[in-house]
Amino acid sequence: MPATSPSPLNERAGIEKSIDSLIALMTLDEKLGQLSQFSGFAAVTGPGAIEANMDDVRKGRVGSFFNVTGVAEVRRLQKAAVEETRLHIPIVFGLDVIHGARTVFPVPLAEASSWNPAAVQEAARIAALEASAYGISWTFAPMVDIARDPRWGRITEGSGEDAFLGSVMAAARVRGFQGSSLRDPTSIAATAKHFAAYGGAEGGRDYNVVDVSEGRLREVYLPPFRAAACAGVATFMASFNEISGVPAHANRWLLTDLLKKEWGYDGMVVSDWTGIHELIPHGVAKDSADAARLGINAGVDMEMVSRDYAHALPDLLQRNVVQISAVDEAVRRILRLKYRLGLFDDPYRGLDSARVTRDVLTPANRLAARKLAQQSVVLLRNERNTLPLSKNLKTIAVIGALAADSGATIGAWGGMGRHTDAVSVLDGIKAAVSSRTRVTYERGGDPVKRDSSRFRAAVNVARNADAVILVLGEPAGLSGEASSRSMIDLPGSQLELAQRVKSLGKPIIVVLMNGRPLAIPWLAENADAVVESWFLGIEMGNAVADILFGDVNPSGKLTATFPRNVGQVPIYYNYRRTGRPPDERNHYTSKYLDVPWTPQYPFGYGLSYTSFTYSAPRLTSNTMSPGDSIGIEFTLTNTGARPGEEVVQLYVGDEVGSITRPVMELRRFRRVALRPGQSGVIRFDLSANDLAFYNAQMRRVVEPGFFRIFVGGNSRDVKDARFELRTPTSGSVEVGEPCGSFVRYDR
Ligand code: NOJ
Repeated sequence: MPATSPSPLNERAGIEKSIDSLIALMTLDEKLGQLSQFSGFAAVTGPGAIEANMDDVRKGRVGSFFNVTGVAEVRRLQKAAVEETRLHIPIVFGLDVIHGARTVFPVPLAEASSWNPAAVQEAARIAALEASAYGISWTFAPMVDIARDPRWGRITEGSGEDAFLGSVMAAARVRGFQGSSLRDPTSIAATAKHFAAYGGAEGGRDYNVVDVSEGRLREVYLPPFRAAACAGVATFMASFNEISGVPAHANRWLLTDLLKKEWGYDGMVVSDWTGIHELIPHGVAKDSADAARLGINAGVDMEMVSRDYAHALPDLLQRNVVQISAVDEAVRRILRLKYRLGLFDDPYRGLDSARVTRDVLTPANRLAARKLAQQSVVLLRNERNTLPLSKNLKTIAVIGALAADSGATIGAWGGMGRHTDAVSVLDGIKAAVSSRTRVTYERGGDPVKRDSSRFRAAVNVARNADAVILVLGEPAGLSGEASSRSMIDLPGSQLELAQRVKSLGKPIIVVLMNGRPLAIPWLAENADAVVESWFLGIEMGNAVADILFGDVNPSGKLTATFPRNVGQVPIYYNYRRTGRPPDERNHYTSKYLDVPWTPQYPFGYGLSYTSFTYSAPRLTSNTMSPGDSIGIEFTLTNTGARPGEEVVQLYVGDEVGSITRPVMELRRFRRVALRPGQSGVIRFDLSANDLAFYNAQMRRVVEPGFFRIFVGGNSRDVKDARFELRTPTSGSVEVGEPCGSFVRYDR
């Protein structure tokens, strides 16, 4: 290490010089090696994995491994790469560390429900700390895909339906994984995935096509990617889907013109699993050579799992179909990642079995997971203050197969998580109650199959209990990759189970475990309390008990709308206006005949054991010009009997635009803690950037006219105010897309 660190500019220049010299020495075979990523010898997370052998490693044909874990294994492979290859180029080891490594945190959709970017950042930091100890330098996270369709199983991996919240969470996760410097051996490189619009899959069917206008792409799907890029994300992953006929892996406009040129992104783009080869079944490549040509020319730098680059590029180069400059550019970006991670100085960065013992699954890490889990719980219903429960009840009945399933707490992408580390909901409840309380348990049947064989037993335990807790929902495998559902109600016979138990006439408390918004109209009307607890990670049981017994007051808010039934999908809060807005009294309006047009639970919704009231918003002025900002103040009061935290939300609506505008869009939020009776004045400032949108010419502008400000505890129950934006020429003013706009979420 030099005595003084070089300035960022010098460091950058130094890295580029080293890359130049290295590329000058590399054979084509070695270059193609850098472009190749193999899945490791153990885990496979997709079809058709081709394993590299040690000979490939020694010949420099492996740029990256993923799914290789364990200190010894990583060391063995890295040692061969740096000691036995001709140019000693280290391998970069990746893994899907999505919501924790060994200390598993809530699934990302749940984490987002905390609306607490600082805590989400901390979760990613801990994940990086743990993963790096095992020699992992790169995670394929965060997934920043906006999802407005709960049938899509991967909605669980993202932050929900909103581009603004998604951007804030994207930046927070990147900062957490990457820390203050990628060179720090406890930092790991992050990946913004899946670029782009993967969440827009038609019908919510995974891997399906997406047809989206450039306007919607820029307004809805791209902002979290831009936010991740602005936060310095080291890599991007191309998405499996096509956009309007062009698969992302062949989309030069997306990967090169937009990402690398318009955004000036100098990081690396990795394919998704066999994404290059899948250009053949997509029907845009006739063979492997065609797929390689399309991929490299589009700007995919590293090929995950399939081998089209390595096999076909030599001939394509020979025939001048692909230029060596395209290969060199891809190699440059991959080497840049390795330099930035400090792998050339210390190829074993982070890797340390002592650290595994010291830094992994520590009480502090578990505590962070428990706290974030508490904040991720969303209280959907609580009639007559059914909750919280006393810890001194004589008997509590817990019913439902998921209650005792510690593995289910982990959800999709468990990283290195183990179900033996996890606290099930049943165990969490048992640990929380007093020694005088008896907790009885009945499985109640299979959670997925039609099964009423245990209904009677369930009714019996409920009959003898002072409180009945039904743990219902989806086993973890029903969400995540390749886990789309056409129905989003409770699977199996769980609804009937709840109905049978309810027929006893006792209050029922439902704890939901699920990876997506569910359609639960009966529960929403008939359960006495509904606690949305998602998959909260290894501390799930403790966190749920903290909420059920009132040690913690729930404060999470939904980040994806809950529909009344699947037929309402897609349903999201920031819809654009139509010429015939829904009106129940007017037949010829945009609605359904058989279900209200409104959701079951709107975006931003979540209850507390206390109550909050909002004053009307007060503005610092009735007018604003594009160079100014406008202040919005309102008073929030805790009008209940318990201390609580409220996630206050501010939305903006543009009354008239040159194109139709969403009815409202989230622009600020903040968690506010108040004691009973306490009031706080909340202030937010908005600038022109918060009012801007892409017009028909794809220019990001603000247009003069009236805007509404809405404040409230969810997107439905809001109070509003109005102001006018005046521009000097009375025309629109271009705003651009400054990076800063994505991190100023709480001012
Ligand atoms: C396919 C998934 O789409 C992607 O998210 C993941 O990172 C890779 N497989 C690697 O496991």
